[in-house]
Amino acid sequence: MRKLIVAGNWKMNTSVADGVELAKKISAYAEQKNLPAGKEIVIAPPFTHLASVAAAINPNKVILAAQDCAATTNGAYTGEVSASMLKGIGVKAVILGHSERRQYFKENSEILLKKIKLALAEGLDVIFCIGETKEQREAGANLYNNVIKAQLVDTVFTLTADEFKKIIIAYEPVWAIGTGLTATPEQAQEIHEMIRKAIADNFGKAVADDTTILYGGSCKASNAAEIFAKKDVDGGLIGGASLKADDFGKIIDAR
Ligand code: PGA
Repeated sequence: MRKLIVAGNWKMNTSVADGVELAKKISAYAEQKNLPAGKEIVIAPPFTHLASVAAAINPNKVILAAQDCAATTNGAYTGEVSASMLKGIGVKAVILGHSERRQYFKENSEILLKKIKLALAEGLDVIFCIGETKEQREAGANLYNNVIKAQLVDTVFTLTADEFKKIIIAYEPVWAIGTGLTATPEQAQEIHEMIRKAIADNFGKAVADDTTILYGGSCKASNAAEIFAKKDVDGGLIGGASLKADDFGKIIDAR
């Protein structure tokens, strides 16, 4: 079902104690707001925080997500955390394909597809991030549209339609992440529309109409409303501005 989602990606920030406090505030806010059906709040703390945060939030009001999972099930993979381990502590969703994972940890479509399949097999929802770099944007619309389409074609477009229904797409132009440079609402809409059309071409219009497509990249309280107002933008994946409960609350209220 197409939803309106405001998701907070905490990245590698906060102590466990501060993270639990932040999660409690967001959970209390969600309880007090009584959000309409189809509007969801997601938070993605670091791995170390997940179990404590799971115990601190109302799971009916806030969806707990991880920021990554392993590309393998279990075994001798030092440092990795599997999708089933995440499931076991109350995690409901996982962010995959974030540009920081692609850039710093060399995650490519082949690795990401493995992760996506393992997450789906555990019943986790997947927030799958795609987006072009600054250089690709500057090379023109032909190139960046193809880059974004290829990120879909090589991964989630190989799934069955039923599997794909568990995927939330997050369009995150890399040049806008953590830079203060936000895509204009028109730029976001243009890409979201292109993504939805690509989904329609691959899975049919009904699936495309039902897909939630989030915008991410320097989205904050002051610009969320105008971005979320665009017809193909179904909420946001928020980094920096998700670390303060008040700011995150304003973004939740933006639509
Ligand atoms: P930002 O990060 O809001 O700090 O730009 C967004 C993201 O990386 O998900």
